[in-house]
Amino acid sequence: MEDRQNNSNLIKLARNVAGNAYVPYSHFRVGCVIVTEQGNLYTGCNVENVSYGLTICAERIAVFKAVSEEGPEMRIKKVLIFTSTDKPTTPCGACRQVLSEFGDDFEVISTCNADEEFKMHINDLLPANFDLKKELGR
Ligand code: THU
Repeated sequence: MEDRQNNSNLIKLARNVAGNAYVPYSHFRVGCVIVTEQGNLYTGCNVENVSYGLTICAERIAVFKAVSEEGPEMRIKKVLIFTSTDKPTTPCGACRQVLSEFGDDFEVISTCNADEEFKMHINDLLPANFDLKKELGR
């Protein structure tokens, strides 16, 4: 059976979900797939709003879908992001913080129309994340 978690399958899923993006303002489509420690896959695309600040990025939609399906113990194993660009795009700061809440050693892979790929661990993408365990020891 095909490994649903292999990167070429995840790229296909992220590219497909980017096609669902609601982007009448930026026309910038983003697709994201989260693989959880339980082995499930959750997709997300960006959804914009006429009140621009209410826009939600693809990454956060995928995280929130994962938590709402698996519950508060959900842990991220891998994140794959697709943008229809010539260079890979890295996740915004808000999404880095939200992603970092659900794991500390997972890989974030960004892909694009070209073969080029960007790969970093969440701890390197956001080394000084806000974390109550660090701040208050709880
Ligand atoms: N966007 C994402 O979906 N993820 C990111 O990490 C960066 C930005 C979206 C938000 C908005 O719909 C569009 O890209 C342009 O900023």
